[in-house]
Amino acid sequence: MDFPAAYDAAAAGLLLRPYRVADVPSLVTNSNDAETRPFMAGTPAELTTKGLLEWVREIGSQRSPDPDRLSYAVADPATDELLAGVVIHVTRRRDVAELVFWVCADVRDRGVGTRVARASSELCFTRGIHRVELVIRPDDIRSRHLAKAVGFQREAHLREVLPGSGVSFGSNTERQDGELWAHLRTDA
Ligand SMILES: CC(C)(COP(=O)(O)OP(=O)(O)OC[C@H]1O[C@@H](n2cnc3c(N)ncnc32)[C@H](O)[C@@H]1OP(=O)(O)O)[C@@H](O)C(=O)NCCC(=O)NCCS
Repeated sequence: MDFPAAYDAAAAGLLLRPYRVADVPSLVTNSNDAETRPFMAGTPAELTTKGLLEWVREIGSQRSPDPDRLSYAVADPATDELLAGVVIHVTRRRDVAELVFWVCADVRDRGVGTRVARASSELCFTRGIHRVELVIRPDDIRSRHLAKAVGFQREAHLREVLPGSGVSFGSNTERQDGELWAHLRTDA
């Protein structure tokens, strides 16, 4: 179940690739966006140009120190402009993956998130993943809407599964509920 360094999701019109130094200005802007920040767990706590440059260099060279946590920049294949970011968290013993993604604030509500979910699911299914999951805040209308459009089904309400508005679980004791949505390789 090896994941490639880059994946050309032609049907979705997106390129999943490693982060580059050229992405850093956009990462600085978007990681300081209040809606996006909670979904960037794993990036450095200090979201400055310097901190993000170091992070991009580190994960750009190693891909990811954790083979079950695959972090991709999502770019426009024509211009290479950064549109979004996605992390695929793999549970190998179950052939399950969870997607966590964010879309650059200036291109929201234009279908990018829907295409990211589609492209990332497709990548997972081609690598032998059977079940792709999303954990969505119950008040996150956009994510619920796009999950349904891609073919995910709502399966459960999970108590206090998500971090609150802070950076990540480690530095944040506030937690919130989430909805479990899943998409199987064998779904239509
Ligand atoms: C959630 C997020 C990824 C969605 O990305 P996006 O590119 O804006 O999503 P899309 O444009 O593909 O789809 C959003 C849908 O919600 C709809 N929508 C937006 N606001 C809405 C509202 N208030 N009521 C009903 N529908 C709404 C849009 O019309 C669109 O549907 P359509 O494609 O049928 O027109 C993005 O907003 C984001 O990065 N948020 C911060 C991080 C985050 O919440 N990640 C959650 C991952 S589970």
